[in-house]
Amino acid sequence: MNKQFYITTAIDYVNGQPHLGHAYEKIITDVIARSQCCLGSESFYLTGLDEHGQKVQQAAEDNGQNAQDYCNNLAEDWQAFATKLGLSNGDFVRTTEERHKTVVAEILQGLYDKGEFYQKEYVGFYSAKQESFLTEKDRNDNGEFDPIYGEVQELRENNYYFKLGQYQQWLIEHIEANPNFVAPDNRRNEVLGFLKNENLEDLCISRPKERLSWGIPLPFDSDYVTYVWFDALTNYLSIPRAIGRESELWPADIHVIGKDILKFHAVYWPIMLRAANLEIPKQILVHGWWQKDNQKMSKSTGNVVDPVAVIDEWGLDAFRYYVVRELDIGPDGNWTDEGFAARYGAELANGLGNLINRSLSMLGRYRDGVVPEAHDELAHDATEARDKLVEQLRANELQAGLMTIWSYIARLNQYVDETAPFKMAKDPNQAKRLGEVLYNLTESCRLLAVWLQPYLPTTSHRIMEQLNLPKDIINIAQSGWGELTAGQKVNKPEALFPRRDK
Ligand code: MSP
Repeated sequence: MNKQFYITTAIDYVNGQPHLGHAYEKIITDVIARSQCCLGSESFYLTGLDEHGQKVQQAAEDNGQNAQDYCNNLAEDWQAFATKLGLSNGDFVRTTEERHKTVVAEILQGLYDKGEFYQKEYVGFYSAKQESFLTEKDRNDNGEFDPIYGEVQELRENNYYFKLGQYQQWLIEHIEANPNFVAPDNRRNEVLGFLKNENLEDLCISRPKERLSWGIPLPFDSDYVTYVWFDALTNYLSIPRAIGRESELWPADIHVIGKDILKFHAVYWPIMLRAANLEIPKQILVHGWWQKDNQKMSKSTGNVVDPVAVIDEWGLDAFRYYVVRELDIGPDGNWTDEGFAARYGAELANGLGNLINRSLSMLGRYRDGVVPEAHDELAHDATEARDKLVEQLRANELQAGLMTIWSYIARLNQYVDETAPFKMAKDPNQAKRLGEVLYNLTESCRLLAVWLQPYLPTTSHRIMEQLNLPKDIINIAQSGWGELTAGQKVNKPEALFPRRDK
């Protein structure tokens, strides 16, 4: 069976409402998934929710609900959120679903039978907030545990451990032999640095039921539930397997994650798979974190960006545009309302929107909306921009791709100023030249709609609608200059990004 491109996001904890960080990850993943479709490969995009563990159990208790009801209620909001963002996901996983739990139990049993786990007593400190055991190394210079661990409790308990150490050298070699396994490079170096400087400690994969009941029972010991990260990571495989598409989808092409969960994805997950004799994903693509006004987003101080409110006010594509254009995949970013409004005004309303509007208005006014004879004055520039964009999309350089498109938009706005079709229209001797200019502009509008498909799907459709062309997915690499045919009658333009005087 042919391998399909398979891409995932991290699955979010259901202990609150989605914010900008969650939206960003889902949108960049969506742009990559859609790019693949627009470059000729089918793609499957998976996102969803991480519903087990102490954090969620605690949140449910604080809300006076049982954990499953609490998750069911919130899951509706998160699913609606995925729709609100216009995601092209092919499935939505919830880790409390039977189809997922069955596969987790299968993997656990397999590893247990292979002798990868052993039992031992642990005495030490535990952070419920991070769902992890702490060691002396986690203390700061004052001998205290960092506030990121929240309240730390002392524990003595028996648990199951996974022998990670025996795979450490294999993982180092794998990362060295596959330079793209962790991207960008600074994150790869971070993982290699960690693996080369520290001995991997064995991973505790169980929690006693008496302390934490909200989890998947260990198939070989009903006194325990599965450690939430072991459960959650398995979602990437459980869904392809559950829907009968493992051979077509696995191994995943890209897991998109935030920088805080790198170790789980670049160390634990590949080792889990290797131990289970399964193939490991081709790439872990790591993005940075957003702040708002140079400060950590935090509900308690009210310093948050609510993506739904922004989308309701400015439109989905304006939001998608801003987050991808503002922040490259890798570094940290900063949201400001002023920055958003400035990009909206300059790049969407005046840049793209105005160009499409004036091009199609002039075609309407001077040629009754009928496309003139083909001409190729801008063919070279357009082809150059397209080739660059295709390369950037293939390399997941999403921000750079937008810059390529916007350089072409700037070139077009300059072309209108230089050729001044509104002046030519007054001179009957220039009718032929006017036709040429209008063709160049209209064909460029069509190409922009093609190039914008992965980034701004709604806007791309609206441009196609205004051009009176079908809205099927078009292969970006294969759609070239001159496909717009003379005689095509376009529709009246409508403002794509109305100006806001704010
Ligand atoms: N449930 C785990 C992931 C399990 S994946 C098998 C988790 N959930 S989370 O809800 O805390 O975070 C989900 C994703 O959102 C992570 O990739 C995280 O990095 C990302 N972000 C959370 N806050 C963010 C920002 N402020 N900015 C950008 N991304 C952020 O971790």
